[in-house]
Amino acid sequence: MPLTSPSDVYYDPYDAQIDADPYPVWRRMRDEAPLYYNEKYDFYALSRFEDVEPCLSDWNTYRSGRGSILELIKANIELPSGIILFEDPPIHDIHRSLLARVFTPRKMNALEPKIREFCARSLDPLVGTERFDFIRDLGAQMPMRTIGFLLGIPESDQEAIRDRLDEGLQLREGEELSVSAEDFNSDEFGAYIDWRAEHPSDDLMTELLNAEFEDETGTVRKLHREEVLTYVTMLAGAGNETTTRLIGWTGKILAENPDQRRELVADRSLIPNAIEELLRFEAPSPVQARHVARDVEHHGHTVPEGSIMVLLNGSANRDERRFADPDRFDVHRDVGRHLSFGYGIHHCLGAALARLEGRVALDEVLNRFPTWEIDWDNAVQARTSTVRGWETMPAFVR
Ligand code: HEM
Repeated sequence: MPLTSPSDVYYDPYDAQIDADPYPVWRRMRDEAPLYYNEKYDFYALSRFEDVEPCLSDWNTYRSGRGSILELIKANIELPSGIILFEDPPIHDIHRSLLARVFTPRKMNALEPKIREFCARSLDPLVGTERFDFIRDLGAQMPMRTIGFLLGIPESDQEAIRDRLDEGLQLREGEELSVSAEDFNSDEFGAYIDWRAEHPSDDLMTELLNAEFEDETGTVRKLHREEVLTYVTMLAGAGNETTTRLIGWTGKILAENPDQRRELVADRSLIPNAIEELLRFEAPSPVQARHVARDVEHHGHTVPEGSIMVLLNGSANRDERRFADPDRFDVHRDVGRHLSFGYGIHHCLGAALARLEGRVALDEVLNRFPTWEIDWDNAVQARTSTVRGWETMPAFVR
């Protein structure tokens, strides 16, 4: 029996129109094809919360070692050591625990004043103007400055690095993203890391250069230059684009829900839950791909070993089996667990930082601009295969 039968539901992750509003297709997948198979691109997909969550936890079956992006798994290229997103245990755990040692919640929370300062630097010059852009004027700036500050990347280099990272993930209309090993061989930070090794500071880069750990061969050693380079590039990449999109979604969703925005202006203690609900409602990274390591059964069908499984955490967040009235945005909702930061061993290492940035950004926007409307003629969708959101989110100040 064909997998999608009796439904004719079709999900194309590269279709810009679907990407603009994937929720109707994802709902049909959950209802009619809970195990979905796409013949054109040869992948399976799970869309219900009760399926996505356990698969994200079962790293032994659903593996990331060939990449966790659809086209990366297909490209079947050797990936550099240290990109924990694309690693399985035991190496993943060795690298992740080393990173977790320097990337502590305490350190993240201590960043709040700095994040406020970065928001103020972006927003203060706009006070008194009639329009501003949630992405260009805030989302594209503050997260880069924050991760740059944390890692110790000089501001003068941050923009070039962001452009370089974004370029690697741009998807042009009607194209699939193509990935090659060269995309990961950026030497953008190389010279700077050498300099930093000679001139230690109190940033994460210095900590990574000095950290000693037991590697997979049991040898206690420091990281090689190339490994530090990979870590720093990965953190700058993972910590940037997604948070940028969260800030864009914040502008859009609150413009569409002015009553809830008014409540937030009046009561800032609602902000943390509003950010959780925003993350649930519009997951900035809604699609995770895995390589299936053994035959598995889902909804009466066998998914053979070697298949690609797409886990739609963005769909799971809107699953009516899990969330009451899931397509309603509600800052008062008891969100519980959403899957926007993934789940299991790859759960987002930067979740605490992302939440903090989201909360501070919203608070600082509301301090200066309590009401706005979106300039829809000039809002541009972002097109990358892994991150969903907006390239621009221009607003009229009201
Ligand atoms: C992993 C989302 C911000 C660093 C992940 C994963 C998701 C995610 C879904 C899991 C991927 C998978 O299972 O394959 C997000 C979202 C963010 C955000 C929505 C912002 C709103 C950040 C920030 C950082 C960061 C600020 C740090 C600087 C990482 C890292 C991993 C990761 C290093 C890999 C963890 C591992 O594989 O063990 N993120 N992220 N992220 N994220 Fe985030």
